[in-house]
Amino acid sequence: MIKQEWKENGFVNEPIPEGTDIKAEIRQMCKEKNAIIMAHYYTESDVQDIADFVGDSLALAQKAATTDAEIIVMCGVHFMGETNKILCPDKKVLVPDLNASCSLAESCPADEFKQFVEAHPDHTVISYVNTTAATKAVTDVVVTSSNARQIVESFPKDTPIIFGPDENLGGYINSLTGRNMLLWKGACHVHEKFSVEKILQLKAEHPGAKILAHPECKGPVVKLADKVGSTAALLKYSITDDAKEFIVATESGILHEMQKSAPQKTFIPAPPNDSTCACNECNYMKLINMRKLYNCLKYEWPTIEVPADVAQKAIRPINRMLEISKKLGL
Ligand code: 13P
Ligand code: SF4
Repeated sequence: MIKQEWKENGFVNEPIPEGTDIKAEIRQMCKEKNAIIMAHYYTESDVQDIADFVGDSLALAQKAATTDAEIIVMCGVHFMGETNKILCPDKKVLVPDLNASCSLAESCPADEFKQFVEAHPDHTVISYVNTTAATKAVTDVVVTSSNARQIVESFPKDTPIIFGPDENLGGYINSLTGRNMLLWKGACHVHEKFSVEKILQLKAEHPGAKILAHPECKGPVVKLADKVGSTAALLKYSITDDAKEFIVATESGILHEMQKSAPQKTFIPAPPNDSTCACNECNYMKLINMRKLYNCLKYEWPTIEVPADVAQKAIRPINRMLEISKKLGL
């Protein structure tokens, strides 16, 4: 039983007894409870290191859809936990801190999005996975940054499309595909902070460095990049490309896996434009830490719940994404 005093605003705030080998205990609990730990690349390094599976949004959804674990601990943000729960309604899905939101998901309230969709009844609705389950419920097909271009292109060129909520990703896909999708005006508060000036300054200091950017960055930043892609795509490029240095314009948690995978290379985080910090961090992803992970496994709380009527509608566009991705070999 969790004591009420430790059950704090969506996470278990219990201190861990001194001398506890947290890593060993976490692994032991996973074994005993048949639990899998999944983590996004933006979480703390030690959380990524203890996870059974680390991936981008598409890979995490694909893994959830196929795991035979009884408990999924999603070390990431709330919408990732919701996607897992929708895909695995009979499993217990835990997120170590329910406050781990996402500014993109928040920028697209389901009721307002529904009105927008209803105002354009002839449009196909494509939503980025960074949305709440309720927003997915008024969507025709979900995409991630790994498959957005291909899924948009799977529709005939004259199909009128609403794309939400990331205006930057939508604009980027419009520019790649020559489409004119109607864009919801949402944005990620982390990726919006990268500035052309600061990246160019780094490039001047490291002329041989390649620039990597997530498509959630603003257009002028994306234009500077040698490689634009999802976290997994940027990671892959950083491993396989010949360059020795990389300027990385996405959340700085990804540098951990980059550095681990290519220890001989140098990874330079692009800084945000509004502070003197060298790194640009997602405050939501960074809510997930080892103590919360330990407590969440111990108490099997907090769980992610999605109302049945919402889940029933949201599963269709998610499955549609997984089916198209499978067909395309993504
Ligand atoms: P990826 O799907 O590329 O991992 O992106 C998730 C995300 O939240 C980017 O901010
Ligand atoms: Fe959401 Fe941005 Fe954080 Fe990604 S980095 S989880 S889009 S707030």
